[in-house]
Amino acid sequence: MPDLAIEIENLTKEYPFGFLHLKKKTSLEGLNMQVETGEVFGFIGPNGAGKSTTIKLLMGLIFPTAGSARILGKPISDVEMHRDVGYLPEQPYFYDYLTAAELLDYFARFHDLTAADRKERVQRMLKKVGLETARKIQLRKYSKGMLQRVGLAQAILHDPKVVILDEPMSGLDPLGRREVRDIILELKREGKTVMFSTHILSDAEMLCDRVGVIVGGKLRGAGAPGQIVDMKTQGMEILFELPGANSAPLLSKATRTGDRYRLQMAEEELYGAIEQLRGAGARILSVSQVKATLEEFFMNLVEADRAQAAAVEVSEK
Ligand SMILES: Nc1ncnc2c1ncn2[C@@H]1O[C@H](COP(=O)(O)OP(=O)(O)OP(=O)(O)O)[C@@H](O)[C@H]1O
Ligand SMILES: [Mg+2]
Repeated sequence: MPDLAIEIENLTKEYPFGFLHLKKKTSLEGLNMQVETGEVFGFIGPNGAGKSTTIKLLMGLIFPTAGSARILGKPISDVEMHRDVGYLPEQPYFYDYLTAAELLDYFARFHDLTAADRKERVQRMLKKVGLETARKIQLRKYSKGMLQRVGLAQAILHDPKVVILDEPMSGLDPLGRREVRDIILELKREGKTVMFSTHILSDAEMLCDRVGVIVGGKLRGAGAPGQIVDMKTQGMEILFELPGANSAPLLSKATRTGDRYRLQMAEEELYGAIEQLRGAGARILSVSQVKATLEEFFMNLVEADRAQAAAVEVSEK
């Protein structure tokens, strides 16, 4: 198997709009990105960033204005590629009056399987996504989390090597998100490559070997979650307890919850602060480094992009 499961080169998508379609909106601009075989790759970006556009281009549902991509070495224009690729669309819609088993059996008919194989495969997939006992219930009675699991079962029904999921956790409660996370981890254990889009950063941080951050149609960073964020320490934080009223000068800078305080300072001020707190009778609970998070990295990019977009609007008036 090739080292790279997905290779994207200079992928660009423009949509014409306005009077006589004379204006163009660039949804994706010169995307270069790779997903390695066997990894879980998170594609993160705010609403309208170009995540679904990229995924739809990869699946051959829309066509690029420029650029190309390969999945497992095959160009995306090659229909053969679909044999090895599973896809969960954003907000999939399934006919409500079918049961999960009927729906999956219907999708299984697209693959060259005998009736017995089909039955066995549908059972196995329902078990994998935890819907074995609900298989004879109509989808209209399913919760959002259950429907998402049916969508996942549909995506992996033909045992693809690469699984591409567009917002698999969207609209799910923490329990539902965890179930989807567990299914993704199981796919990874089986050696599959998983690429999924999300704007839930904690899910990406928890699950992904690497992430790509896209904002305004452009890739702004790719790498291990801890790598793309500048992990340099931003200072130190002391968590301490100090019962009752107290007027130690340091307390004015601390955040208080009941008897507990949280105080942040530069590294060189740490020991002085500890001395002062001990002098005031505080019980120190923990001392930790304050690090930049993926969320801060992301928010900075999004804010800079919004400021730039606003500047363009002003200059076009
Ligand atoms: N058919 C289309 N015609 C014109 N513009 C489009 C079309 N499809 C998408 N766009 C625009 O392209 C941009 C990227 O959209 P896309 O759906 O890829 O974003 P996304 O990252 O998936 O966002 P979300 O998190 O909301 O799903 C958006 O500004 C969107 O309005
Ligand atoms: Mg989308």
